[in-house]
Amino acid sequence: MSKFETDTPIGEGVRADTAAPDREPAPVRGSALAGPTDRRRFLQGAGLMAGAVAVSGLSGGALVAGFPGTARAQSRTEITFASAKFFGKQTIAEVVEMYNQAQSKVHVKYIELPPPSSSTEVHQALVQQLARRSGTPDVFTQDVVWIAEFAGAGWALPLDEYFPAAERSNFFPGLIEACTYQGKLTALPWFVDSGMLYYRKDLLEGAGAKVPETWDELAAAAAELQKAGKVDFGYLWQGKQAEVLVCDVVEAIASNGGSILGPDGKSAAINGEKAVQAVQFLYDTINKTKISPSDVLSWDEEPSRLPFTGGKAAFLRNWSYVYPIAQDPSGSSVVDKVGVAPLPHFAGGKSAACLGGYQYGINANTKNREAAVDFLTWMASPDTQLHYALQLGLAPTRPSVFDSAKLGAEQPFMQTLKPVFTGATPRPVTAKYAQVTLAVQSGVSRALVSGDIKKELDAAAARITSILA
Ligand code: GLC
Repeated sequence: MSKFETDTPIGEGVRADTAAPDREPAPVRGSALAGPTDRRRFLQGAGLMAGAVAVSGLSGGALVAGFPGTARAQSRTEITFASAKFFGKQTIAEVVEMYNQAQSKVHVKYIELPPPSSSTEVHQALVQQLARRSGTPDVFTQDVVWIAEFAGAGWALPLDEYFPAAERSNFFPGLIEACTYQGKLTALPWFVDSGMLYYRKDLLEGAGAKVPETWDELAAAAAELQKAGKVDFGYLWQGKQAEVLVCDVVEAIASNGGSILGPDGKSAAINGEKAVQAVQFLYDTINKTKISPSDVLSWDEEPSRLPFTGGKAAFLRNWSYVYPIAQDPSGSSVVDKVGVAPLPHFAGGKSAACLGGYQYGINANTKNREAAVDFLTWMASPDTQLHYALQLGLAPTRPSVFDSAKLGAEQPFMQTLKPVFTGATPRPVTAKYAQVTLAVQSGVSRALVSGDIKKELDAAAARITSILA
C-alpha cells in the first residue's frame, strides 16, 4: 500500500478511528525539546530498546518507573490530532500509539482524514474544523501550500517560543522558511516531497539511450521504446483536475524558465510564452508525440504509478513514495530495473521539482497548548523522522536524519536526489492558495482537453489576477 492509495470514501469527512484506550502507561519522557535522553526514552517506549528504565515525570509530575504497563496512568491530558491518511509498513495511528505508550502525561486521539491525493478533501475537512475555533483538533498536519492560509486566518499557533532559533536550525532552512508566515513560525516541517523522474534502467540501456535531460530527449526515448514494443506507455504523469496537476504544471513551466505568478507574487504569469510552451508540451504528449495515454487526464498519483511498477511504461513523473514500492517484489515487476533522476527541462531551462510535503501545526485555539507542544516535539524529533522515513517512505526534514547512514543504507535514492528535494520549486505562496489552485486546475485542465492552450491560460491568468487583487 502506498500513501497515495485512495481507499477513504471522499466526502466522508473527519472520522475518528482511534478510540482512547484506557492504557497502561509506558515510562514517561521529559517534556519539550527532545534531547538524546528523550530519544532513548522514545525507543524504550516504542519497545525498540531492551533494558530497564528509570524516568522522570513531566513538569514536576509524579514519578513513574518500571516497564511499560507496570504503572497506572495519572490523569492524562487528552488531545486530538488530525492528519491525512498515509500508508506504509505502519499507519499514522500506530505511530501515534507509540507516543501514547512512550509517556504518561498526554493521550492523543487520532482523527483520520483522506490520503494526500485527495488534497482538496483533506483541506476542506481541516478548514471546517479550524474555522470553528473550538480548539479541535489540537494538532493537525497541513500540506505546504496551506501554511499561509491557515496562518493568515489565525488558525495556526505561532511556534517560535517553543521551537527557538537553535532548534529551527536543525531543519532544512528552506522548509523553515516555507513554515514562516509574516515573520512567525506557524508550522513545523514533517516530511518533504518533490517531483522526480522514474525511468526503466534496463530499457534505456538496451536501447543505448542515456537518461533524458531535456523533454525532447524524453519524448524521443519514450517514443522509441513504445515503437519497439518494449512498453505500452512512454511517459506517465498526472493530468487529473486535482492538486497534483498543479504540481506537474509548476514543474513543466519552471523547467522552461516560466512561473505561475509574476515576480511580484500578485499577478499571474501562467499565460506567458514559457508557460504556454510548457503546457503545450504536456498536451502534445497525448496528442502529438503520443507518448502518454489520454487516461493521464483522469489519473492522479496511484493510477499513474500502477502501470509503471507493472512494467508497462518507460518513464513516470511522481513523488518519492514510489521507489520503495518499485523495489518491493510483492507488488512490482520492475525490481532493480528502476532509476530515479531529476525531471527533464526544456532547452535552455533547468530541471524543476515541485515542493511538496506536509507540516505539523498547532490549533491557535487549543486549550491544551503544553500537551500539543509535547506531542509535536516528539513527532518532529530525529527518531520519529527516521521512523517515518523507514516505515512510511516519508523524506526527513532534518539534514541530520536525511544524511544518516541508516537512511542511506535502506533508501539510498533519497540521498542521491538530495539536491532535488532541497532545490524544489514552491507552488504560489499566498493565503488565497485554495482559490488560486482551483483556478490553475480548471484552466490547465481545459487547456489540456481543448488544445486551446493560450486562450485557456489567458482566462486562468485573469481569474488568478482577480483572486489576488
Ligand atoms: C503530495 C505532496 C503534496 C501535494 C500532493 C498532491 O502529497 O506532498 O504537497 O499537494 O502530493 O497530490
